[in-house]
Amino acid sequence: MTRSHPAFAEAPVNPSLFDVSVLDAVDWLRAQPTESIDLLVTDPAYESLEKHRAIGTTTRLKHSKASSNNWFSVFPNSRFPELFAEAFRVLKRNTHFYLFCDAETMFVAKPEAERAGFRFWKPLVWDKKTIGMGYHYRARYEFILFFEKGKRRLNDLGTPDVISVPRIHRGYPAEKPPAVSEILIQQSSSPGDVVADPFMGSGSVGVAALKTGRRFCGTDLNPEAVQLTASRLREFGDGHTTRDLPDLQSPLLEFSDSQL
Ligand SMILES: C[S@@+](CC[C@H](N)C(=O)[O-])C[C@H]1O[C@@H](n2cnc3c(N)ncnc32)[C@H](O)[C@@H]1O
Repeated sequence: MTRSHPAFAEAPVNPSLFDVSVLDAVDWLRAQPTESIDLLVTDPAYESLEKHRAIGTTTRLKHSKASSNNWFSVFPNSRFPELFAEAFRVLKRNTHFYLFCDAETMFVAKPEAERAGFRFWKPLVWDKKTIGMGYHYRARYEFILFFEKGKRRLNDLGTPDVISVPRIHRGYPAEKPPAVSEILIQQSSSPGDVVADPFMGSGSVGVAALKTGRRFCGTDLNPEAVQLTASRLREFGDGHTTRDLPDLQSPLLEFSDSQL
């Protein structure tokens, strides 16, 4: 898709299809104008991952020559108040916010997001269709918490709350298939809208946004993730990318199968 795609005929504000940078999620949100974003879909690196990692049920990095990273840094639960306050501020009125979440973190995240002003509707389930690791029932699903700012109708009231899409194998750690975000984006935004993700990882939300004729902006602390995202998004057309990203001649990120 290029800028001549019909979805962009009426595109407001930013003329480029995407804008990605290497920044802390909250710092990046603070830099966004108030009520400038049509939809937030995001998947923070929860501190609960540390626990999974400690007991060995989480995706692990196979050491590549090019990278010394074992894993991305986590975002502590204690930072939820500032994250959700900024998320609420940057979203336009009458919008939706989707938060990928595990069963442990949802009990912490839900009340914090409500305190920031969001209305919680329900957890959606991403059914990965095959089992992963685990000790007490093996993991086959993740939650996606569905929040609202103001009041907005979903575009298709016939969509079920279980989204069945196979997991990604050998991807970025905790990588989500764009097909999951495509459903969320089509439900809660219109062509030409701006979709944001401040914890982009491999850029799956961005891919889903551009594929469905939306625009995308986002960030990640990990420059390799931003480079990976940028290279995926460039296939859809022009965008703005932070300078000085590492070259990805060979894959820096080599991970084993996603096992969560
Ligand atoms: C679970 S992954 C996101 C995966 C992504 N949804 C995908 O499909 O590939 C979480 C990401 O958050 C990033 N991250 C961790 N702390 C961050 C912070 N303070 N600000 C921005 N990104 C952060 C990590 O580098 C990691 O790429």
